[in-house]
Amino acid sequence: MDKIVALCKRRGFIFQSSDIYGGLANTWDYGPYGVELKNNLKRAWWKSVVYERDDVFGMDAAILMHPKVWEASGHLKSFNDPFIKCPACSNFFRLDKIWDEIWNSPWFTSLRETMMGDKDTLQMIRWAKHEGKKLAPNLNFVKHPEVTVSWIGDLHYKFGGVDLDFKNYVGIIARSRDGVSRIPCPNCGNQLPEESMAANLMLETLFGPVKETAQKVYLRPETAQGMFVNFLNILDSKHPKLPFGLAQIGKAFRNEVTPRNFTFRTREFEQMEIEYFVRPEEADKQLAEWIAARFNWYINLGIKKENLRKRPHAKDELAHYAKACTDIEYNFSFGWSELEGIANRTDFDLKQHSEVSGKDLKYFDEASKERFFPYIIEPSGGVDRSVLAFLVDAYREEKVKDDTRVVLSLHKDLAPTKVAVLPLLKNRPELVGLARKIAADLKKCFITVYDDTAAIGKLYRRQDEVGTLYCVTIDVPSLEDKQVTVRDRDTMKQDRVSIDKLKEYLEEKLA
Ligand code: GAP
Repeated sequence: MDKIVALCKRRGFIFQSSDIYGGLANTWDYGPYGVELKNNLKRAWWKSVVYERDDVFGMDAAILMHPKVWEASGHLKSFNDPFIKCPACSNFFRLDKIWDEIWNSPWFTSLRETMMGDKDTLQMIRWAKHEGKKLAPNLNFVKHPEVTVSWIGDLHYKFGGVDLDFKNYVGIIARSRDGVSRIPCPNCGNQLPEESMAANLMLETLFGPVKETAQKVYLRPETAQGMFVNFLNILDSKHPKLPFGLAQIGKAFRNEVTPRNFTFRTREFEQMEIEYFVRPEEADKQLAEWIAARFNWYINLGIKKENLRKRPHAKDELAHYAKACTDIEYNFSFGWSELEGIANRTDFDLKQHSEVSGKDLKYFDEASKERFFPYIIEPSGGVDRSVLAFLVDAYREEKVKDDTRVVLSLHKDLAPTKVAVLPLLKNRPELVGLARKIAADLKKCFITVYDDTAAIGKLYRRQDEVGTLYCVTIDVPSLEDKQVTVRDRDTMKQDRVSIDKLKEYLEEKLA
């Protein structure tokens, strides 16, 4: 992940927000390549779920909505993440993620690596007195290693082995001398309090220029509600038959307790959501179809199959509105993590909005003359998380002779730049003139850049790093034979192509 973060900054994909002021924590800006990648991803999603189907319509609802929307949706009451604050280091942790946080924490990772295989308690004591002191100074085991070890006895803990009981083990090393065992802080090892706090995740703002009379409104935490409250408008304007859906891409905001992992969990992010209205008896079938369709979308855009999985939710992790949900997860360096959730929201939302607004949001079926609330199947994905997954998945380093080539092997529909035009010599005006003319012609058809600011080897590496699909090189013979060299990003294979056939050649490759 560090390499991706560095590449994103170096090449202009993603920057820390408000960088010159020291940055606003966990807030990110997309630079020239980042915005192209993000737009390409959103375009690919829209094409797949709106243009290639007859039954899904696009929408773009306002971010600010009537406060009653959030009362009806249940967000004001139930959109909480219980969290714990460490009394020693003041860090916050989500209760539902606490064991993952410990497992991935620097101190537990270090202890686990030290104890990998058949190790004895002496190694543990050595760890406590050295790495432990630096990484988890408040962990009871670090403060009193001999006491902890006397509890453990001569057991050999085989980390990574089948006999590891992670939570019990952590319970022992966090136990204080008087025998009280509580969950340790993933940051400093201190015992965490038993009581958690509840944080409402809704961000508020004031609607109106005068503070005293302004109305409190919320920055939407999901785009979904904008589609539910337009259900009647869509029925009245498009007269669709079930099943049909609405699709929307837009910003959402959540006061996350623990924003982290680059753009993975932030307080401002973008969602791509579909609300697909179905007859209740067809909900299970439609849910299964959408799970398959959405999974294949990522695979068809190049994500490696072994890095993607479907994970059905257990009953106790379902959102307050959902009857079933399956996450599509990516295998990030920080563990399998959600890119998209596909949920059966039942008739919860339409019923709630009917009740609170007083408007009848039932659907009338002409054929059967029934009036009923449709169920909703909701594939809900994150734009920023997908961009991150596609970046990580496409990144590779290759040995080329004595050099290392960094390549972003992005799918052709996602690559920010399709073609780079590079003159071999920048001090030959006729070469530069021809190259600029070719670039200007290609720009009318493909996202094309012109670059003559370095030697050709360096120019190629630069384009490989940002995922440019084809490099067109203009050399001295081009002036005579009217041909150019086209280099393929992935294979580095070069073709000599006639200038007057170049556009067709690239069109065919990029189709
Ligand atoms: N309407 C349903 C809904 O919002 P969710 O699982 O809370 O469901 C859907 O969010 C998607 O939005 C997630 O799968 C994720 O990709 C993205 N997302 C949610 N919270 C996010 C955050 N704090 N930062 C970045 N993306 C987030």
